[in-house]
Amino acid sequence: MVRKIAGRPAVITGAASGIGRSLAQRLSQHGSPVVIADVNSEGLEETAKSLHGPVLSRVLDVRDADDVHRFAAEVKDWLDLPIAAVFNNAGVAIATSVQNAVPEDDSWLFDINYWGVVNGTRAFLPQLVKQNYGVIVNTSSVYGLVGMPNNSAYCSAKFAVRGFTDSLRQELRGTGVSAVTVHPGGIKTNIVRNGRIHSDPDGRGRSHEQMAADFDKVALTTPDKAAEIIHRGVERGKARILVGPDAYVFDALARIAPTHYFSVMARLFER
Ligand SMILES: NC(=O)c1ccc[n+]([C@@H]2O[C@H](COP(=O)([O-])OP(=O)(O)OC[C@H]3O[C@@H](n4cnc5c(N)ncnc54)[C@H](O)[C@@H]3O)[C@@H](O)[C@H]2O)c1
Repeated sequence: MVRKIAGRPAVITGAASGIGRSLAQRLSQHGSPVVIADVNSEGLEETAKSLHGPVLSRVLDVRDADDVHRFAAEVKDWLDLPIAAVFNNAGVAIATSVQNAVPEDDSWLFDINYWGVVNGTRAFLPQLVKQNYGVIVNTSSVYGLVGMPNNSAYCSAKFAVRGFTDSLRQELRGTGVSAVTVHPGGIKTNIVRNGRIHSDPDGRGRSHEQMAADFDKVALTTPDKAAEIIHRGVERGKARILVGPDAYVFDALARIAPTHYFSVMARLFER
């Protein structure tokens, strides 16, 4: 299935920063009216200012299911056109071992990274089904393909997004609506800087800022490149989009060494 979204309306959550902002900029440059939403009003305003075409900007906490439904109704009123794509992209990170986990942080993350995606899907799906057209694009991660140390909540939520979206895709078979799962590798964004990190889980005593700087060094892909890959992947009709060269390595390792991928990765890094 080829899905043209350039020039057609798109909704993007988590659009105040990173991948969401780049997606908004790219789709706007390609002539799409864009609806951008985020909990960060200042960042959202900056994104809105960087766009040249029609834009609806809405402060939104994706955890609030009722408000996400109100938001979907507002989008319908704003646009007299079918929605081509809904990107449930908003997300956060934490880093801790299971033993040191702070339950409130795990809930905060799960409410945003999993329930936020579910809320966005449920709010917009009836409209897409009525149109018999459009695509729901849910952001998982390579951490939705493999479990990694000090990321139990993040991996759980991203595996859940993958399961949810893959189930939805089967339900939508034979309709004009589709569901896509996105698995980014390391993308150089504010995800670690904005995360809840109380101490260095690797025991190296790094500050939160040092950990963010280290992440910037290993994140191989820019947000603009990620937006390009996601946009192209959706238009090519992919059901699953891997973003960045490292994402292909994670995907291969998860298949080749489903229980030993971490040992293989550790050996590769030692070299
Ligand atoms: N950066 C990476 O390496 C990477 C890798 C895999 C997956 N991802 C995923 O990509 C998505 C985008 O992240 P990013 O890397 O651009 O990070 P980012 O921190 O730059 O952007 C995330 C955005 O989500 C927003 N957000 C957070 N909580 C929200 C809430 N409750 N309601 C609405 N908006 C909220 C933030 O304000 C921010 O603008 C996330 O789902 C993330 O988990 C990122």
